[in-house]
Amino acid sequence: MPYRILSGNRPTGKIHIGNVFGALQNWKELQEENECFFEIADYHALTTGYDNTENLRNDIMEIAIDWLAFGLDPEKSAIFVQSDVKEHIELFTLLSMITPLPWLERNPTLKEQLQELDIRIVHFGHLGYPVLQASDILIYKATAVPVGEDQLPHIELTREIARRFNNLYGEVFPEPISLLTKYPRVPGPDGKRMSKSLNNIILLSEEPEEIKKKVKQAFTDPQKIRKNDKGHPDNCVVFAYHKIFNVKNKEQRERDCKSGTIGCVECKEDCTTTMIEYLSPYREKRNELKKNESYVRDILKTGAHKASEETNKTISDVRDHMKLWVNN
Ligand code: TRP
Repeated sequence: MPYRILSGNRPTGKIHIGNVFGALQNWKELQEENECFFEIADYHALTTGYDNTENLRNDIMEIAIDWLAFGLDPEKSAIFVQSDVKEHIELFTLLSMITPLPWLERNPTLKEQLQELDIRIVHFGHLGYPVLQASDILIYKATAVPVGEDQLPHIELTREIARRFNNLYGEVFPEPISLLTKYPRVPGPDGKRMSKSLNNIILLSEEPEEIKKKVKQAFTDPQKIRKNDKGHPDNCVVFAYHKIFNVKNKEQRERDCKSGTIGCVECKEDCTTTMIEYLSPYREKRNELKKNESYVRDILKTGAHKASEETNKTISDVRDHMKLWVNN
């Protein structure tokens, strides 16, 4: 049975290759055989970005362009902006009434964010982040949510909220499962998790010169000092990139490194070439789309329309089960 799928990202600018292999590649594959909804979660972006909304519109456009350039297909999937589909917020209000505060206070993602971004005052909407995310998912009665590992606690909470709703008012929502990507994690050139806030990203649309620079600086096996030393590819960022981008030669590179027949300089050059080859078509597609923003806007409008057809059905079902006021 095909899944009903919903997933999304916050618009925080252009996407990087960590986002791509953490989720987007998976979405692109899933849209072939499943019913898919992909949202740009602009309200979620406000949870940490409420004091700087200047770039929000532009960021929404940038992520939409990246998605389309990478291959999300508006003929197959509904691609839309969260705030264009009002029923997300209606369900958010209703689910807020049945979500116990301790469920939100123990959310590990929130705790991490508070620490990483040095946030002193927790806002009501930020605490409610997972309830909004649950609404995003449940308003489509989604059965599966393809996400990166960092999102698992949110999906678990979505299941708990669905269960609680169903117990209180009757069976309305399926409990969605998470679908993790099969691709290995893509580290930043410094070996840490690739993240905008750590300033170590490689963009999907990165220019060849920049790719070259970033790969050149990438951390390699610290035990391989001289060219002919035997290396440990599993302890090397460049090999992590080979594993993803060097489809044809990754085994060869692994052998060469382990036996000490290739030095890191040459290996990095090879890595740069394959990465540029892999990413260039997306950069070119992106440049085309960038010249035609009204086309992208139309896609988002059509996507919101398609999404609304489902959200309207769900919200009446919900109101019905909750025996809320109806007067039409
Ligand atoms: N929290 C997700 C992220 O930070 C974005 C998101 C919002 C999402 N709503 C969602 C992901 C619903 C999956 C399903 O990437």
